[in-house]
Amino acid sequence: MKKVNLAVVGATGMVGRTFLKVLEEKQLPINNFYVFASKRSAGTTIIFNGREYIVEELKEDSFDRGIDIALFSAGGSTSEKFSPIAASKGCIVIDNSSAWRMDKEVPLVVPEVNPEDIKWNKGIIANPNCSTIQAMVALKPLNDKYKIKRVVYSTYQAVSGAGLGGWKDLEDGLKGEKPKKFPHPIVSNCIPHIDVFADNGYTKEELKMVNETRKILHEPNMKITATAVRVPVFYSHSESINVEFEKPYELDDLIQTLKNAPGVIVQNDSDANEYPLATNAAGHDEVFVGRIRRDESIESGVNLWVVADNIRKGAASNAVQIAEVIIKNMQ
Ligand code: A2P
Repeated sequence: MKKVNLAVVGATGMVGRTFLKVLEEKQLPINNFYVFASKRSAGTTIIFNGREYIVEELKEDSFDRGIDIALFSAGGSTSEKFSPIAASKGCIVIDNSSAWRMDKEVPLVVPEVNPEDIKWNKGIIANPNCSTIQAMVALKPLNDKYKIKRVVYSTYQAVSGAGLGGWKDLEDGLKGEKPKKFPHPIVSNCIPHIDVFADNGYTKEELKMVNETRKILHEPNMKITATAVRVPVFYSHSESINVEFEKPYELDDLIQTLKNAPGVIVQNDSDANEYPLATNAAGHDEVFVGRIRRDESIESGVNLWVVADNIRKGAASNAVQIAEVIIKNMQ
């Protein structure tokens, strides 16, 4: 298999560190490897595949050395500036920020759902929002079979989704300290405010779920609404997803469809108190689906409880999966 030169941008961050872990686990065929972060971490070292690498400050000439693929998780403004520079040097950027996701020239990809979109990239591929990724893995097979009319998302999102700062707010808050990242204490609270508020009263996180779902499923007119809530959980996002279908369905058939879907694990045994839990999903790349029950208030609808590790499948693992497809396509 052809070996690639690969870079991680934002290697010292919450997602960046997980990029390194997942790359090691999946044993991607890497030739030269580079790690970038801000000036603050330049000169520090990280261990990757048993070797020490020096963290470099990300600069305009950082990509002048034949880097094939760069995994970015260093925030929107860094990506806005440096992704086009990297792409102009022949590198394919897989970007975890929201900077490029809704750009018409940029594919937005969940490999189990729309791998075909990787092919038309022009140097930048966007990794979707963490809450969107896990929902897509569960909803794509149902949309294919029963045609989704409307979706209502309600999320229960882990603090690690806000990076190391969010994680620290929960850790420090448990010791009685004041929050630095969130606008309110996250301990003993559910905060219905993720990202900034838009003019229509929704948060940007909620709008990301609406717009990204439509783009990934190629369903520009799908009716979707969302409420995104930060909860005092370290890892894994949980989501209540209410779906209305165009077509009628049989519950057993729907459950079997989910069981057959790539990347989905069904945990749906209420007699055994079995349903997806954040602590069980943490550390895994699959999306766990349970509490599967008919919505009896409408003609053809279902309620699902969908849980996944927001740092792995919701960010790092999804990006590394995209890189794997790119490498396969290069062979
Ligand atoms: P650094 O550690 O040097 O600040 P998180 O989302 O967990 O907070 O991580 C953000 C990541 O993005 C970190 O690796 C951080 O590096 C990196 N980063 C932030 N700003 C820049 C920048 N201007 N250039 C390169 N990397 C950056």
